[in-house]
Amino acid sequence: ATAKQPYRTSYHFQPQENWMNDPNGPMYYKGVYHLFYQHNPEAATFGDRIVWGHSVSYDLINWIHLNNAIEPSGPYDINSCWSGSATIIPGKEEPMILYTGIDDKKHQVQNLAVPRNLSDTFLREWVKHSQNPVMTPPSGVEVDNFRDPSTAWQGKDGKWRVVVGAQNGDEGKAILYQSEDFVNWKVDPNPFYASQNTGVCECPDFFPVYINGSTNGVETSLQNPSVRHVLKISYLRKQHDYYFLGNYASDQGNFIPDVRFTGTSSDLRYDYGKFYASKSFFETAKNRRILWGWVNESDSTQDDIQKGWAGLQTIPRQVWLDKSGKRLVQWPLEEVEQLRGKHIRITRENLEHGSNLEVSGITASQADVEVLFELPELEKAEFLDPNGVDPQLLCSQEYAARSGTIGPFGLLALASKDLKEHTAVFFRIYRAPNGYVCLMCSDQSRSSLRHDLDKTTYGSILDIDPNLKTISLRSLIDHSIVESFGDEGRVCITSRVYPSLAIDKDAHLYVFNYGSQSVVVSELNAWSMKQAEIGYEGNISYT
Ligand code: FRU
Repeated sequence: ATAKQPYRTSYHFQPQENWMNDPNGPMYYKGVYHLFYQHNPEAATFGDRIVWGHSVSYDLINWIHLNNAIEPSGPYDINSCWSGSATIIPGKEEPMILYTGIDDKKHQVQNLAVPRNLSDTFLREWVKHSQNPVMTPPSGVEVDNFRDPSTAWQGKDGKWRVVVGAQNGDEGKAILYQSEDFVNWKVDPNPFYASQNTGVCECPDFFPVYINGSTNGVETSLQNPSVRHVLKISYLRKQHDYYFLGNYASDQGNFIPDVRFTGTSSDLRYDYGKFYASKSFFETAKNRRILWGWVNESDSTQDDIQKGWAGLQTIPRQVWLDKSGKRLVQWPLEEVEQLRGKHIRITRENLEHGSNLEVSGITASQADVEVLFELPELEKAEFLDPNGVDPQLLCSQEYAARSGTIGPFGLLALASKDLKEHTAVFFRIYRAPNGYVCLMCSDQSRSSLRHDLDKTTYGSILDIDPNLKTISLRSLIDHSIVESFGDEGRVCITSRVYPSLAIDKDAHLYVFNYGSQSVVVSELNAWSMKQAEIGYEGNISYT
């Protein structure tokens, strides 16, 4: 980030310029990570000729930009190449990409592309299959709402299966297809998943997770009693990524979620802030499932045109099922820690009511901070009945500066010296009818003196153990993004902010407690983060 580009990030994935949205076809192939992404090469806004940008990496942090991998070329994708996924065929070790084409009639169809040359380490060139399109809108699906094929999985019968997002009126669906050869696909007349009054299901992602609390990822095709399944749907109307834990009834060809979508704050989300159209993949090097998500801007289109770019990807996260079996856990990949530079450590610091302690000595505009808070006796907490409460609303009412009993306590990120600007990421603990709950908020309302920004406060409520003694918070701060992980990754909130004062050296970081009860910073570790090497092939030293 420079003075002219104060909001450009230093270690988040971005193209050199112009518009980016969904992550596409992430995969790990012969020692190389690939990230494709929805890209408008012509402008910093979405457009009518979207292509697949392509970058490669050896560590998921430093990236080499290559030429676009997939661009409109035939009648089946002439009006754009939209989102899709990669599948690596075992045995043959061949990657296949299924993506959505906007065809010459502006209908949405699914197409197949394969690498031209498997011995090119970076798989720079992709060839479209002669039988494209390989899927066209089936009956009961709107021709312009049929998109985003998932990574395929192989059933016990050897057949490949994928789901495609769709809509019919108000009904959202994930449509199941089967194939023996990846080219000829047969639609299943019954939807794999459907939801009423939701509108279109975008970017379905379907994968198994271990039920024993292991952080290991599971290969997408694995089916046995040691796993359960996750279906993620991006609901366009909500602009959020919701996930469902449930049973995969492979014989019936459908997915039965434990809990249905309600459209309320009780639905589970990957992230309670800005995060959409995410996609996961299983990686064999470290046996992990890795999740990428698109983070949209919160400034105006006019601002984006001025900046010359729009859209970020999150730091890739490892994802697994919590030992409770009730929710997923996400944690930034350990590779990001290689960027940690100067380190500041604070231990056993008592934060009385109204304290603000500056974490000085690091670059607060570009930092990784982990803090463990020691809680007072939980019985002292105020009462809250979380039923019917919208945590987002609660976060905007119970803003950071307002005192409670236990909390608000947390971090003030990207803060100006006078605190006129700050992004508050914090917790409040409440006594609830059936135990205790923790409210986590990311409050952007005071993040900038600038106007015309979306400063919605984000929040979520988490059940906590009545014997809980500590709670952790980690935030990855990178100029215009704050990605926060509460309670070891059980709640994630990503915020986009555009400070006018708290830029570069004028940004500060504080740990605070405005609750009437003291909390103790049991341990705080903060690091200045180095810049990741992200650039065009040939222009960077990273190879
Ligand atoms: C999600 C989405 C997808 C579509 C793509 C177009 O953000 O709308 O459904 O394939 O973006 O860029």
